[in-house]
Amino acid sequence: MQTVHALDPLRNAVSELRTAAPVALVPTMGALHDGHLTLVREAKKRGAAVVVSIFVNPLQFGANEDLDAYPRQLARDSALLEAEGVDILWAPTAEAMYPAGFASNISVAGVSEGLCGASRPGHFDGVATVVCKLFNQVMPDIALFGEKDWQQLAVIRRMARDLDLTRPAADAILGVPTVREADGLAMSSRNAYLSAEERAAAVSLPTAMRTAIAAIEGGADVPATLAALEADIVAGGFRSVDYAELRDADDLKVLNTRSHRPMRLIVAARIGPARLIDNMAVNP
Ligand code: PAJ
Repeated sequence: MQTVHALDPLRNAVSELRTAAPVALVPTMGALHDGHLTLVREAKKRGAAVVVSIFVNPLQFGANEDLDAYPRQLARDSALLEAEGVDILWAPTAEAMYPAGFASNISVAGVSEGLCGASRPGHFDGVATVVCKLFNQVMPDIALFGEKDWQQLAVIRRMARDLDLTRPAADAILGVPTVREADGLAMSSRNAYLSAEERAAAVSLPTAMRTAIAAIEGGADVPATLAALEADIVAGGFRSVDYAELRDADDLKVLNTRSHRPMRLIVAARIGPARLIDNMAVNP
């Protein structure tokens, strides 16, 4: 595995890779876990040479968020990626990504509004801007993202369609199902913030979500079910619920009644020092 920290060596290394195989990009912020590594394995299954980026992107963190506390463990991450057979680790410095004078911003309306867009103003501008840059830096044939961040995936696909991106094209942006711990909690770098007690309580999030999904699929009233879900999450040990919403799975339109199209239950809630997100399919 080649590790590169600046754009010129990255471009040289990727051009060499491209002669042998299609190139896959897996963008991450590091503190890697099995969710991230599953994206790498999916890319390899498709016969691609794999570039993983690790960059804790300051643009997508709000002023009161965890940018400074976010776990940084490049040596450990690098060993994990090497063991997966990753070809290139792209770990740009902040100066390489945002040189002095950087002044541009990509803002995707619609799908970025509400949910995390409401509780984290500016977050998805930061995500879209850095992902567009990563796409242009690596110019991958495919890019892989986790369904764990359902709204993020929708924002990135919308951007790719709207801006006529070709490397990757919108239909080469692949979503990978959420990888969970044995008890059902979605893997997240932010789970590391939890005490043993908070970690044990955190399972109440996916458990309460499954109960709500069974109710909605069984025809229960949607607003009443979502209110009961919020109460369940708080009773399970969470401090507060940022949102718990039923959305159209594709265009993310708010649903107050069950739809005939695929739906998604999407939740963000706070426990101890962490803000955890999760989402699950709701069948028509
Ligand atoms: P990060 O949170 O590090 O996640 C990197 C990728 O791993 C994302 O596509 C995310 O959806 C996926 N992922 C995280 N947990 C997962 C899980 N339990 N199962 C499956 N996939 C999972 O998301 C970001 O970084 C950033 O916003 C980024 C896209 C890199 C832009 O900075």
